[in-house]
Amino acid sequence: MIVAGNWKMYAGPDPRELADRLASVSGVEVVVCPPFTGLAACVQAGLATYAQNVHWEREGAYTGEVSAPMLLGIGAAGSLVGHSERRQYFGETDEGVARRAAAALAAGLDVIACVGETLAEREAGETEEVLRRQVSVLEAHARLVVAYEPVWAIGTGLTATPETAQDAHAFIKSLLDVPVLYGGSVKPDNAVELMVQPDVDGALVGGASLQVESFAAICEAAAAAA
Ligand code: PGA
Repeated sequence: MIVAGNWKMYAGPDPRELADRLASVSGVEVVVCPPFTGLAACVQAGLATYAQNVHWEREGAYTGEVSAPMLLGIGAAGSLVGHSERRQYFGETDEGVARRAAAALAAGLDVIACVGETLAEREAGETEEVLRRQVSVLEAHARLVVAYEPVWAIGTGLTATPETAQDAHAFIKSLLDVPVLYGGSVKPDNAVELMVQPDVDGALVGGASLQVESFAAICEAAAAAA
């Protein structure tokens, strides 16, 4: 079981307070993904710390980007790639996401690669086609995890039903044999029903990861479901 907190462009909780609270939670791998400016403090607090994105080159004229060796150099353990907000607002493509994932994995980072369909794609019956397109560019790796995040469930309070999540996770695993996290309005009160599904291996949590108590409660729910 893995529970990752994606703080997005929020300062997030105090890393030491969070680390203290999580010290009593066992049986689940907990990860935090702060904005770039919060990485060092999270590492220092002893939290498993991932960036929210990583470039495929080691260095170069890529304003606004950061590389895997740079992240490893400050003690980060991994990175998200392909979050739907990167795809939607910053034009990231399946191929770019695949390059980011491959370079980060090769450099030694762990990677959570995000996939998921929009509401229009789901309503048009294209969910499997979209997931196949997004997943097929990724290569299996021991340090690769996929997060299934239906775009219509992110930050909307609309959670996929446990059955919908389970179906999508099973489909993703039929394409690529990696752990699959669920993301999209995961809260303390829906975490257990999602995480007891056989192919749900944890959660990627946005809004509810910004408060110590709600994030800790989700981590505890994951531990109970493990
Ligand atoms: P949410 O975000 O939990 O606020 O829906 C999830 C994510 O975007 O990773």
